[in-house]
Formats: sequence, structure tokens, C-alpha cells
Amino acid sequence: TVVILDFGSQTTQLIARRVREAGVYCEIHPCTLPAEEVAAMEPSGLILSGGPMSVYDEDSPQLDPSLLDLRQPGTGEKVPVLGICYGLQALAHALGGGVEPSARREFGRSPIVSHEENDLFRGVPEGSVVWMSHGDHLTRLPDGFRAVAATDNAPIAAVAAEPDSEHGKVYGVQFHPEVVHTEHGATILRNFVREVCGLRGDWTTGSFIDEKAEEIRAQVGDDHVILGLSGGVDSSVAAALLHKAIGDQLTCVFVDNGLLRAGEFEQVQTTFRDGFDIDLRAVDASDLFLGRLAGVADPEEKRRIIGRTFIEVFEQETEAVTAELGHKPRFLAQGTLYPDVIESVSFKGPSATIKTHHNVGGLPEKLGFELVEPFRELFKDEVREVGRQLGVPDAIIRRHPFPGPGLAVRILGPVDREKADLLRQADTIWLDELETSGTYDDVWQAFAVLLPVQSVGVMGDYRTYEQAVCLRAVTSTDGMTADWAKLPYEVLGRASNRIINEVRGINRVAYDVSSKPPATIEWE
Ligand code: XMP
Repeated sequence: TVVILDFGSQTTQLIARRVREAGVYCEIHPCTLPAEEVAAMEPSGLILSGGPMSVYDEDSPQLDPSLLDLRQPGTGEKVPVLGICYGLQALAHALGGGVEPSARREFGRSPIVSHEENDLFRGVPEGSVVWMSHGDHLTRLPDGFRAVAATDNAPIAAVAAEPDSEHGKVYGVQFHPEVVHTEHGATILRNFVREVCGLRGDWTTGSFIDEKAEEIRAQVGDDHVILGLSGGVDSSVAAALLHKAIGDQLTCVFVDNGLLRAGEFEQVQTTFRDGFDIDLRAVDASDLFLGRLAGVADPEEKRRIIGRTFIEVFEQETEAVTAELGHKPRFLAQGTLYPDVIESVSFKGPSATIKTHHNVGGLPEKLGFELVEPFRELFKDEVREVGRQLGVPDAIIRRHPFPGPGLAVRILGPVDREKADLLRQADTIWLDELETSGTYDDVWQAFAVLLPVQSVGVMGDYRTYEQAVCLRAVTSTDGMTADWAKLPYEVLGRASNRIINEVRGINRVAYDVSSKPPATIEWE
């Protein structure tokens, strides 16, 4: 294991991703974790992340010097350390080096003008660009250290402990190797874990599946697990993994709230019941949901009604399962991902931006289950890879995110079945056109929105007065910020033509060119 101590940087998660990509398992922990607890994890390497503060700020996090004296379990050698930006400054500060505010914040790309060929920089060419983002910088090296790279603005862009010093293998970089703007950043992090820490790099999603399945069997024993399947990537892959681990000790509940995309209710059943032979309870509760939503226009009220109704339906299904089994299932499985976990443990609150939405699948504690969360250590792309290996169909793996309240937040104003059907037809054509033009995978999310207005059109000799839809497609990496997708006009044109010609009741199509912020991805 490599332990990454988070000093509050926005990019700490990216460090973890680069390390995982190098085939090495790692975990992020807050920098406030006591040194004994870090030692108990027996790390083979330690990475200190960047952070927003100055080491001289009053309550800035400091580095416990005893972390620099940890020993590797196998070799008994000192655990190698890499400090990144603030992590380097905290390291230098702890060892008696000098850190001072820069005259101006250094921010952006700068080429490395000289660097030493060492284990950390192996394969990194001279002149390669690194990404700087810092206010303070190192002015004096701690004893036993030397500068090993420089840029025009930073004579100390990277440091290393002298090989014969007492420090062991300690490195620091003033720039951010984890971001893509640092050309050979992935190489540097890979070098650290493979060359410096001497790790083999054999952590793969394949080994994850076997180990996790074993772990699930040990946790669950003879008991039963219930899982709320939404048809999205996370819960689908969780279902496949749990089924592999515990077979018919798993029951999945899939609820049709009347607000799913076209064909989804059937597709999920075909995939999981027929394909995987999973015990699946598919519940058509659309009348209940749509009945309660009748006449409700306020978006947050719609969300509340859908959330509450979902819990109710889920509880009923749990009771039915309990009656069949003769006892209540002890466990609830959830597809919680690593970014959600880090947000809740990170130093001084979330290092990533705060999520405002919870999946409808997030069931309250009062239901009294113990949790099984097999993906707590994984990133989304790793879950996708696990899904592929487990044979989850590509259509599900590649699927765009879909909000828990479904089409309810894409039908502006009150929702009913007729409107949902109308929107489903337009949405299907839009997604179909993205698929055929090969652009579906280039966007983060795409969907149609049913507008609560009618407009005049002319079809043949007739005047029409029908509804309008707005098409939305955005690019994003995490849904927190998003850009409207600059799709080719031909794709927009074809989708518009088809929707107006094929969907009776819609005579106008618009394309949304707003980014987030200040707009949001969904319209409600
Ligand atoms: P916004 O519209 O806030 O959406 O830019 C960001 C991401 O969150 C999804 N979203 C939701 N997901 N329940 C969910 O499970 C919700 O109530 C909800 N509202 C928005 C949205 O689809 C996008 O991916």
C-alpha cells in the first residue's frame, strides 16, 4: 500500500488515480491521521499532497516528523516519501528548511530547465513542462538535501535527500505531477511507486474482483443481501459482483417509477434476471409515483415525493423478501464510490467540490441494515473496468449518469404519464443520433427536456400548435462543472428533423448552450 496524506488539495484524488494507474494500490487519508495509525497500515510509500495553505498560517496542518522514520515491513528500510507542493513545504519545514512567500503566486505551465537523472525523473526529458500552483516556495534546503530540478522561476523545483544522508529516500516536487498539464507527471508518480518504493505494480481490477468476492463472502456469511438496482453503472456492477460472490443470497430490487428512459425497465430485467440469473424483483410502481406527483410543479417537492415513495416501495419489497426467507435480510449493498468516501473523511471538509445530490438509492439508516459497499475504494473508471470483466453489457457500462428522480426533473412543471411518454420518444431519438454519429461517448450526459410551452408550426398544409423540447449535451469530468457540447450542426440537425417528424406532439427543437456554472446540467 501507498498512503497519500491529504493536506486539502483539490487534486489529491488525481494523485491516487495516477498511482493506481501504475498498478499500485493506494489510499487517501487526512493529514491529521495520527502517525501510529499510518504506521499500522504498514505503507511501502508515503505521498504528501498539496494544500491551499501556507506552512506559516496559524492553523495550517504540519507534518509529524515521526512519519519520516517509518520502516518498510519487508526490507526494514525507511519508507520512501514524496512531498508535492504544500507537502514538500511541510516536509522542508519539519526538517528545518526555509519556506517563504513568493513575490507573486506562481501559477501555470513552466518548462524544467535542468534536472538530475535519478530514480524519480527517469525517462523525463529536459524541457518537459510542469504545472505550478503555489504561493510559498522553498528558499533554503534542509540539511542532507539537494535541489534536483529547476524551472526559470523556481531554482528549487524538486529536491532529493542525499543518498548517504540519514533521511532515506525522500523526494519533493514544487509542481503538481498528478495533473495532466504536467507532461510527464504520470511517469514521475509511477517512478516514485515502482522505482523508489520498489513496488511491483500488479494491482489490477482482476485481482480486485477475486479479493473482494472473498471479502464479501466472509462479511455476509450465510445471511442475505438486498440491493437497490437503478440500472446505472454503479449499482449494476455491484449486482454483478455480489452475485459472483454470494449467488442467490442476493436479491435485487428495481423500481419503475414511471420516469425511466424508454425500454429501461425491460432491459434491466433481461440483463440481470435472464443474463445473470439474479434474483430480481422488478416492481412497476409507476401509478403510485405518478399519482403522487400529479399537479406538483416545484422541482424540490417532486424530488421529495419521489425519494419518499422510493423508500416506501423498497420497504414493502424488503418485507416481501423477509416473508419468503423467513427472516429479514441483514445487509444492504450500495455502489458507494471512493470519491464519495474521501469527501467525507478529508481534512477540513471535502477536498473535492461538495455534492448536492444524493442518489435516490441512498436509503436511510433507520431501515436497520448493515452495509456492503464493495466499491468504497474504487474510482468510477475502475468500476467500469470491473463491470466489463464481470460481463456487464457495454450499454450499461457506457451509460451516461441519470438522476434518481429521472424524467421528473426534465419535464418542466407538473408531470404525467402522457408527458413522460412524449419526452421518452424525443430522448430516445436524441441518444440514438448521438450513438450513430459516434458522439455519445464524447459527452458526459445528454438528454431532452420537455418545455411547458407550445409554439406554432406548419406541417404540410396544416398549422400546428404543439410542444417544444430542448436538447442538452454537456462535457464534464465530474458533473460539478460542465460545458455545453459543441456538437456538429449535422448531428443537431438530424436529431431535430427526426424528432419533429417522428414524435407527434412536438413541433420545435432547441439546443441548450449554457454551461455550469451558472446554469446547472439538469433544468430543474
Ligand atoms: P445539476 O443539474 O445539479 O446536476 O448540474 C449534476 C449531476 O447530478 C445529477 N442530478 C441528480 N442525481 N438525484 C440524483 O441522483 C437528483 O435529484 C439529481 N439532480 C441532478 C445530474 O443528472 C447531473 O449528472
